[in-house]
Amino acid sequence: MIMIEVKNLVKVFGAKKGLLGHDAITAVAGVSFSVPEGGSLSLIGESGSGKTTIGRILAGLESPTSGEIIIQGTHVTKLLPAERHKFLRRVQLIQQDPYQALNPARTIEQALEDPLKVMAREQGKDERWILSRMHDVLLRTGIEPGVVLNKYPHMLSGGQRQRIVIARALTVDPKVLIADEAVSMIDVSLRLGVLKLLKELREQFGIALIFITHDVASARYVGQEGKLFVIYKGTIIESGPTDDVITQPYHPYTQALLSAVPVLKGLEDPGPDRFIPLRGDDREIIADTSCLYQPRCPFAQAQCSETRPVSQGLEHTYACHFPVIRRVVATARGERI
Ligand SMILES: Nc1ncnc2c1ncn2[C@@H]1O[C@H](COP(=O)(O)OP(=O)(O)O)[C@@H](O)[C@H]1O
Ligand SMILES: [Mg+2]
Repeated sequence: MIMIEVKNLVKVFGAKKGLLGHDAITAVAGVSFSVPEGGSLSLIGESGSGKTTIGRILAGLESPTSGEIIIQGTHVTKLLPAERHKFLRRVQLIQQDPYQALNPARTIEQALEDPLKVMAREQGKDERWILSRMHDVLLRTGIEPGVVLNKYPHMLSGGQRQRIVIARALTVDPKVLIADEAVSMIDVSLRLGVLKLLKELREQFGIALIFITHDVASARYVGQEGKLFVIYKGTIIESGPTDDVITQPYHPYTQALLSAVPVLKGLEDPGPDRFIPLRGDDREIIADTSCLYQPRCPFAQAQCSETRPVSQGLEHTYACHFPVIRRVVATARGERI
């Protein structure tokens, strides 16, 4: 079953302000994907590529300029606001900073109680239900309820705090979790535990995971069997089964991102010639006719500034006029190009 589907999602910020459109920023330029029950989709790309905007739109914190969002078969973009709001609760967003997500003046019990009280009211449940569900979500996130319920956020480690944020998200029985750089502010020693938890929630409870990161290794850890989407300037420039994209990347941007990654577990290092540089930055203005990546691409040819490449390929897609697999990370067999 498809838990969430996005069709041609577009977000333009400041479209109304600039009379001539000067101030408009296209943060998301037509993104489509779907994630099945228990599946995962990792979204990787540099800072500013539009990842957070996609996550915020799916969680209902930002409205799309255009495009469709379908949650468990329902077109939420076509619903009236109240009804849409209810549907979007099935999508929960875990953000980067768990400390900011929790009110410092409230105990963990109070933090978890809020959404549970709303649900209890809606479903006619009593206090006992609230308590048992509270314990349940904490245990699911690997936390002993007795140890944390009376504590304040500052008394916990970053890893524990993020687990509490995840537990709070689980109170509403979400079908989709979006983790946006969810471990980047957590101590390195505690990161793996939180990543493992996200993976387990997907595998054990069928939650669809949208994992936003700039770290390919963690994307592979939580969703090796899932899909990897590479985003550049709000556009998916390569996508496919995670290990296909990692071991056989076609797009020079993907290759550059990957070549900055240390050798991944289980894969052999192809040696020093694996490095493809990531040159310059993404601020250059790009003509509509040019490939988005052309000014930075070490392999660009004349055609790259004359026509924008469209996505090709079926399961593994790439938007490049001259797709050449460069095995920058290595293959299982240790082959190189
Ligand atoms: N509220 C906003 N108003 C105007 N521009 C925004 C807003 N939020 C994000 N942007 C712009 O949209 C682009 C994508 O940002 P973001 O989605 O945060 O990227 P990422 O998460 O990949 O770093 C950036 O150019 C950013 O400056
Ligand atoms: Mg971001």
